[in-house]
Amino acid sequence: MEKTFFIIKPDGVRRGLVGEVLKRIEQRGLQLDRLELRTAPDESLIDKHYEALVDKDFYPNLRNYMTSGPLVVGVISGVEAISCWRAMMGATNPAQAQPGTIRGNFAQSPEKGKAIENIVHGSDSPESAEREIALWFS
Ligand code: TYD
Repeated sequence: MEKTFFIIKPDGVRRGLVGEVLKRIEQRGLQLDRLELRTAPDESLIDKHYEALVDKDFYPNLRNYMTSGPLVVGVISGVEAISCWRAMMGATNPAQAQPGTIRGNFAQSPEKGKAIENIVHGSDSPESAEREIALWFS
């Protein structure tokens, strides 16, 4: 079984999509190993989470968005859980996300210069899953 780390981002919590996202995880047959609602995270935690992106132009917007309210964090496991969950999320930019995916059903692309608010996060490799689980559940 492979483990992956996920976040229901502040827009997902604000818009009442927690139940919808968790329903999809359960219905897909992925196992929920951990699940917590967290108050808005500190900037320092988001800087560590997105350490590969802190130098990007869009990073200040991304940080403001990710610290803008409560979020849900969790660990799921299953066969090929990492790619399975990323397929369920859909493409990063909601305009390119397939209908049927979480982003493709529930997110809109932002106006130019605004943060992409795309509801969910999922680790992109076994190494990042391990790092992110340790970071958020230390
Ligand atoms: P990334 O890890 O590349 O995407 P994903 O969440 O699909 O794994 O980027 C992390 C987040 O950063 C992404 O969900 C939204 C934001 N982002 C932007 O705002 N603009 C961009 O051009 C990119 C690539 C990402």
